[in-house]
Amino acid sequence: MRLEVYICSDFLLFDFIHVEMLLHVNVQWEEMTMTAEPTSADVGAYYDRVSDMFAAAMGGNVHVGYWHDESDDSSIEVATDRLTDMVGERLALSQGQHVLDVGCGNGKPAHRIATRNGVHVTGITISEHQLRQALERVKDAPDLLRFELADALRLPFGDGSFDGVFAIESLGHIADKITALGEMGRIVRPGGRLVFADLTGVLGEDGQAGKETEASAQMLMVAGLPTADQYRELIQAAGFDVLEVVDIGENTRKTYDHVADVLKATAADFKAEGQDVPDDAELEELSDSDEMTYVLITAVRRAE
Ligand SMILES: C[S@@+](CC[C@H](N)C(=O)[O-])C[C@H]1O[C@@H](n2cnc3c(N)ncnc32)[C@H](O)[C@@H]1O
Repeated sequence: MRLEVYICSDFLLFDFIHVEMLLHVNVQWEEMTMTAEPTSADVGAYYDRVSDMFAAAMGGNVHVGYWHDESDDSSIEVATDRLTDMVGERLALSQGQHVLDVGCGNGKPAHRIATRNGVHVTGITISEHQLRQALERVKDAPDLLRFELADALRLPFGDGSFDGVFAIESLGHIADKITALGEMGRIVRPGGRLVFADLTGVLGEDGQAGKETEASAQMLMVAGLPTADQYRELIQAAGFDVLEVVDIGENTRKTYDHVADVLKATAADFKAEGQDVPDDAELEELSDSDEMTYVLITAVRRAE
């Protein structure tokens, strides 16, 4: 069924070997897929509701922070901006190049990568609320920034039209990761980079994802948590060669304490606005879980 969908879309460019790889990855991926599979519309509506709450708790970004070690007492804003910078460095950009931010949130990471590197960044989000916020940032760097409401499953851009692509904590929300990564592979020119940062699952000794992972995935409207190895295979199958996989789970864990602190203080306000506020136990589970980690993957688009 899924194969039919690929053939109807732009996947004709894949030769037989690629189709075989996709089928292989797909079988493994199906084994990891969680019960909850939110649609793009569900995720857009979710971020319309929760984006401000998470941004308030995460230093303006909607992603985790990076702390060098236990003794690093950087603020949440410094730590979350640091993660953006780690993504920006791995894109290996030259001034004037053009990259796509898939799942750009409120535009803070795109703005930072554009202005620090002198590159053009186009960001797409599935949330109308986030788009309005991101568009406000264009005033600050009108020559470098562009934002659009678009679905990662159908990128409205031509083949090879970007020098690179990054996706910070967006792919986790997308059930059909093969199509989303295929789209990223399509719009990046050969030699261009993909940098991917996201939560990943850790399989238990029985080879299965744990119950905590499933509960956390549902709370965060995440469509399953592949392991780092599974993401590596999915990325390879989408036409990229993986250059680096770094597990930074331990460096990100302080995020959950910061989020818990802010949410404790602000939960009542956000609840009154109708937002889905995770409770303390849910946040603690995320922070303590050894069933989850966080990876940063850098890859380069293969030549055809
Ligand atoms: C956790 S937020 C991360 C935002 C931003 N990358 C950051 O680091 O601040 C997840 C983002 O993925 C986007 N997203 C999820 N599914 C998407 C889809 N199918 N198409 C486009 N964007 C999507 C959401 O709209 C949201 O902006």
